[in-house]
Amino acid sequence: MERTFVMIKPDGVQRGLAGEIISRFERKGLKIVAMKMLWIGRELAEQHYAEHKEKPFFNALIDYITSGPVVAMVVEGRSAVSVVRTMIGKTNPAEAAPGTVRGDLAMDTGRNVVHASDSLQSAEREISLFFKPDEIFDYAKVDEDWVY
Ligand code: TYD
Ligand code: MG
Repeated sequence: MERTFVMIKPDGVQRGLAGEIISRFERKGLKIVAMKMLWIGRELAEQHYAEHKEKPFFNALIDYITSGPVVAMVVEGRSAVSVVRTMIGKTNPAEAAPGTVRGDLAMDTGRNVVHASDSLQSAEREISLFFKPDEIFDYAKVDEDWVY
């Protein structure tokens, strides 16, 4: 069983898309095991996006991700990291497939509504940046053989 980190970015919250996006993961059969709204400060934003520190878009990315509250989640299920990446679609929403979150709901790389970890290692790092262990819950869902 894997856990991945998902974040509805400020544009997703401001556009009232949080429920729509959360609902997709629930309907897919993944399990939300942690969730909170928070307004990220620059320090946490820079830690979260540390891999992009030297990129030309880094400052704009930090401005964007700190521009309003986000909804942070831990999503659990078999192959959760890759399943969620597939569900959110390509980084550039203009190229993201219809049926994906970004393909259906966004137009611009700089406002692509959602973040999800790109590997198991990233997931572990990002989850520990945003959540304490006691904020992540272990609970049972019905039909656990088919949905998580
Ligand atoms: P990246 O980790 O490459 O994409 P993803 O979110 O799909 O894992 O980049 C992180 C974020 O940085 C991306 O969601 C949007 C922003 N970004 C830009 O603004 N311009 C760019 O050219 C790239 C590659 C990313
Ligand atoms: Mg990434």
